[in-house]
Amino acid sequence: MDYRIIPGILEKDWPVIETKIQQVLPFAKAIHIDLIDGKFAPNTTFMDPEPFSKYTKDAFFELHMMVEEPINFLKPFSDSGFQRFIGHIEKMSDQVEFVAKAQLLGEVGLGVDQDSELDRVEVPFSDLDVLLFMTVKVGFSGQEFVGKNLDKIKKAREKSCIPIEVDGGVNDQTILKAKESGADRFVATSFIFEDTPKEQYKILHDKIAGGRWD
Ligand code: DX5
Ligand code: ZN
Repeated sequence: MDYRIIPGILEKDWPVIETKIQQVLPFAKAIHIDLIDGKFAPNTTFMDPEPFSKYTKDAFFELHMMVEEPINFLKPFSDSGFQRFIGHIEKMSDQVEFVAKAQLLGEVGLGVDQDSELDRVEVPFSDLDVLLFMTVKVGFSGQEFVGKNLDKIKKAREKSCIPIEVDGGVNDQTILKAKESGADRFVATSFIFEDTPKEQYKILHDKIAGGRWD
């Protein structure tokens, strides 16, 4: 398994986002940007793709789209250099169309919120680059990890060897539970930024990789 820690950023203001990008760029290979439009969840984030273009050549940027009709956000964020697009099944009218369009622009994933069942994913897993499972309800960082959500990860892992990303409440106490369920990518937002990001990243990395550090 190719385990990866992915720092997440869920913010309303570009200067804060920029500072966080600069903090993780020296060591993170990928960065997870949360996009929330206020229609999917009762929160909003910075929605302008343009300023990201300054950094998207320096790391692999993935966009976690917690928005109504994520298909409409693909092209603008692709133009800014984003390379992986994860849209949620809950507010998407056509999963097949979303996946087909995103595939033309980069890697594609579908996200499954805490209260959605796995069988709501309508496209074959083999058409996806990643499946993302929430371990909190979408909308906010800093929530507590909900272990019952891991059951869906176990089921998905039994069916497929697709990369499985877990998002929400990932920290040094919860990451191994997610790994044991079959996840291989771990998004962490508040844990990474609550102290020195590189040290926090290393703590998570050491938990899953058994001490290796590269
Ligand atoms: C929640 C977002 C998550 C969030 C995770 O809607 O999709 O990516 O930033 O934050 P933590 O790691 O603090 O739970
Ligand atoms: Zn996210």
